[in-house]
Amino acid sequence: MNALVSAPVERIDGVIRVPGDKSISHRAVMLGAVANGTTEINGFLPGQDCLATLAAFSAMGIEIERPSETVVQIRGCGLNGLSAPATPLDMGNSGTAMRLLSGLLAGQKFDSVLTGDASLMCRPMDRVADPLRAMGAEIVTDNGCPPLAITGNQRLHEIDYVMPMPSAQVKSALLLAGLYATGPVRITEPAVTRDHTERMLAAFGLPVHREENRVTLPAGGPLTATRIDVPGDLSSAAFFILAACLADEGELVLDHVGLNPTRTGILRIFELMQANIEVQPQTGAGGEPVGRIIVRPCQLRGAEIRPEIVPLAIDEFPLVFVAAALAKGETVISGATELRHKESDRIRVMAEGLKALGAEIEEHADGAVIRGGKLSAGTIDSGGDHRVAMAFAVGAVAAEGPIRIIDTKNVATSFPGFVESARLIGLDIRTDNGLKPDQKSNG
Ligand code: S3P
Repeated sequence: MNALVSAPVERIDGVIRVPGDKSISHRAVMLGAVANGTTEINGFLPGQDCLATLAAFSAMGIEIERPSETVVQIRGCGLNGLSAPATPLDMGNSGTAMRLLSGLLAGQKFDSVLTGDASLMCRPMDRVADPLRAMGAEIVTDNGCPPLAITGNQRLHEIDYVMPMPSAQVKSALLLAGLYATGPVRITEPAVTRDHTERMLAAFGLPVHREENRVTLPAGGPLTATRIDVPGDLSSAAFFILAACLADEGELVLDHVGLNPTRTGILRIFELMQANIEVQPQTGAGGEPVGRIIVRPCQLRGAEIRPEIVPLAIDEFPLVFVAAALAKGETVISGATELRHKESDRIRVMAEGLKALGAEIEEHADGAVIRGGKLSAGTIDSGGDHRVAMAFAVGAVAAEGPIRIIDTKNVATSFPGFVESARLIGLDIRTDNGLKPDQKSNG
């Protein structure tokens, strides 16, 4: 899928369940692999990022069965049962996979190397390598970027670390290294970030304590296999929430979506923008709250999006930029510098894309000011960023004409079946292979 073309529509409706949560799927594989016993994951996200994590553990000798695309059974080998991979582990586009695995691999008896695609090879890794080194790990980067060469057989010790930036990936890498450390791991976050690792460690029998912004894993210890039910990914659902807000008619129901309070910043942002959204709690399993989200059309309003809310909606900003461009009034986003270190520099790529569609946006180092109005038809480049591509695709619902988005193959990293699901709820979206009608594709 190289390009997508999405055209305006009036009606968005239906009842849909989006694919499983990416963050939870990664963690379930990682903890399942080093637990004792067989872990069954239901609702696993079969996106390329999580498949890269599965492949890495297969390469380290873990037996994995997949009775269906979304059900994964992992025969855990215990904390010290992984074997040395024969080749570097390729984490594709996934920063989460690379950063979390670096923590787990720092505690192994064998050497390993982590690599990735062109985008991942440019992403900052010192944020995990530095504190892991402070725990006694030996990690070599290429000027702070991948590949990461990790030397095994190091004695990891305790750490009391104050994170310079809010990052669930860094926190999680340290907690995973903590499984192998001789003393406690204490991490202070500048702002609360997603806590899936803490919740899942508890589900595997190892509680992590939290006191305000500080989490402590008192000691490593064996993990016991369990059953994990992965809820739908709120970060994927959010695209369709925006589509339903922008429509003129219809009602969209998103079923069984993860509602972990460290992830629901986007619902708060939609509330600030005066969206018409109802949330009904549902019963979930595995320590993660879930619910049904019902969305009806509305006139979005500009809002002030303050720094405190940013980590709680960190992956949703591409669509927040689009929502703001189509809202009535001004939206101010600040304290969001971390957006520059995602799969693309999301402040720059969104500003360029919105300008190309005629929006009024002023880019700042840590955010943007967007004066809402309308989006015209046009072509934008996603910069290879899955969430940028999907944000513009749903923005087309209320644009003046079709939006063509190029470089969209990475949509499958987090939302396999995005186009099909989008069409199901009423989007007029299709893939575009760039061929003229009389040319034939080679397959
Ligand atoms: C994630 C943490 C966030 C988020 C990413 C997934 C995780 O990254 O952007 O998509 O699963 O821990 P940071 O820790 O870099 O903020």
